Amino acid sequence: MTTATKAKAGTGTATKDGLPSMIAYLTRVLKTPTIGAFWEELAEQARDENWSHEEYLAALLQRQVADRESKGTVMRIRTAHFPQVKTLEDFNLDHLPSLRRDVLAHLATGTFVAKAENVILLGPPGIGKTHLAIGLGVKAAHAGYSVLFDTASNWIARLQGAHQAGRLDAELKKIRRYKLIIIDEVGYIPFDQDAANLFFQLIASRYEQGSVMVTSNLPFGRWGETFSDDVVAAAMIDRLVHHAEVLTLTGDSYRTRQRRELLAKENRATRD
Ligand SMILES: Nc1ncnc2c1ncn2[C@@H]1O[C@H](COP(=O)(O)OP(=O)(O)OP(=O)(O)O)[C@@H](O)[C@H]1O
Ligand SMILES: [Mg+2]
Repeated sequence: MTTATKAKAGTGTATKDGLPSMIAYLTRVLKTPTIGAFWEELAEQARDENWSHEEYLAALLQRQVADRESKGTVMRIRTAHFPQVKTLEDFNLDHLPSLRRDVLAHLATGTFVAKAENVILLGPPGIGKTHLAIGLGVKAAHAGYSVLFDTASNWIARLQGAHQAGRLDAELKKIRRYKLIIIDEVGYIPFDQDAANLFFQLIASRYEQGSVMVTSNLPFGRWGETFSDDVVAAAMIDRLVHHAEVLTLTGDSYRTRQRRELLAKENRATRD
């Protein structure tokens, strides 16, 4: 305890009346605002319910930790730059029998991030790849992992900018600070050779170090078309799938289905 802290805290000799200001001061020093805000209310509850000192302390600390964790999650979701926040809870699994529920439940625990493993979501347009990628990203953020989401073209633009400025290595290092990066829409826009090389460097720099989640409308066999180079594509796929869960989704587009259902409803309404 510094002299200043001792003086303020009174080394335990504060009078009962001085306690609130002493606690306010100490919680500020400790940067535990939730304790500062709730100690009095919880103390009353503790007295009413005859908690032991230990129970009171545990309840107070628990409140502080829960608050810090939820603030951390909110921050991680904000900094992940998801295009929208979609959740796995909103995802209708009945529409997608090709998706194994046990695999999805396992991925939702986020342990793949701890192991720097990858997730590849392959399937046709509208099947729910982006929704699942965001939902899993949100789960990873809840589990305490930093996440960064972007489309493949934006990732490339970012790397190109860094490359032109002569700081590609620094950028790759910065990206490595994120435990999970999500690369959406590989395959829609073809990359020239330079872009493909940059993309390869991104994947290589995370190999066995940080997780990558990729969504693509193309099966691996056609990635050579997107990256205008079969050799680079093969080397990239090799690194991506070495420690990965590959989910190949099949079925109808959810967008088309929703549209179909809407039209059917309108038709029924005009008939009735
Ligand atoms: N099983 C589902 N349950 C609930 N909503 C779904 C489901 N599948 C897709 N959707 C919704 O349908 C829309 C299209 O899904 P999404 O954008 O994830 O498709 P996608 O596979 O990424 O398609 P694209 O390849 O065109 O980008 C989104 O609004 C998404 O939330
Ligand atoms: Mg998508």
